[in-house]
Amino acid sequence: MSTSVVTFRSRKGGEQPLTMVTCYDTTFARLLADTDVDAVLVGDSVAMVVHGHPTTLPADLDMMVMHTAAVARGIGDKLVVADLPFLAHRRGLRDAVDAAGALLRAGAHAVKLEGAAGNSELVTHLVESGIPVMGHVGLTPQFVNAFGGFKVQGRGHEAADHVLRDAKTLEHAGVFSIVIEGVPAELATKITRSVAVPTIGIGAGAECDGQILVLHDLLGLTQRVPRFVRRFGDGAAMVQHAITDYTAAVRNRSFPSSDESYA
Ligand code: KIV
Repeated sequence: MSTSVVTFRSRKGGEQPLTMVTCYDTTFARLLADTDVDAVLVGDSVAMVVHGHPTTLPADLDMMVMHTAAVARGIGDKLVVADLPFLAHRRGLRDAVDAAGALLRAGAHAVKLEGAAGNSELVTHLVESGIPVMGHVGLTPQFVNAFGGFKVQGRGHEAADHVLRDAKTLEHAGVFSIVIEGVPAELATKITRSVAVPTIGIGAGAECDGQILVLHDLLGLTQRVPRFVRRFGDGAAMVQHAITDYTAAVRNRSFPSSDESYA
């Protein structure tokens, strides 16, 4: 099923919530291409999930371009959104345009950026240049140091108003959708009802216009996950069983068989 930013946006308030997962490589992109997931995000979470860093901050433009190109090679006609990594869009308009352009040239159809303060002009400029932008508010992981950790945002009136204002700022600047991460469910519901573009929740309750999860978390491949994650598979057990069976077969010389050898 192919989705563009236009069809994605048109599903605001629709009966069927939008679905997104992260994707970082061609193998998983090929598998996801044959599912009915609506879109994939080449998230800067790649720095944590694939490269083993404790935060997303080590993701840079080269890393994001490489993973975006790998995903684009396998994802078929699904919508691909790629993250603008930490600081890539904060060094002036020219550098930001170059960074977003590099992600689109690598195969993304849109970019995502975190936060609203200081990003309005850039969002409008990118959109007017043909680069669709997804916003991201709430627990924006690139602000982990400013937040003092990966902490739920928008608790209390003032903090909630702040997140709501961020979402409205991004909407007015021209984003086609907004990720809401790590906020109380009531706040995400209020934001969803206050903006005209689809909201995609992660740790933000059930009332958003769609949901996103980190692929490795939902597959059960990661060891420790936040409470908002549901594991839809036991990928870790599947991998470990397969490896146990493989090493046993090698050691008892049942692998490779004659069928698995060249005459
Ligand atoms: O980088 C990422 O994976 C994200 C999602 C969790 C929204 O930004």
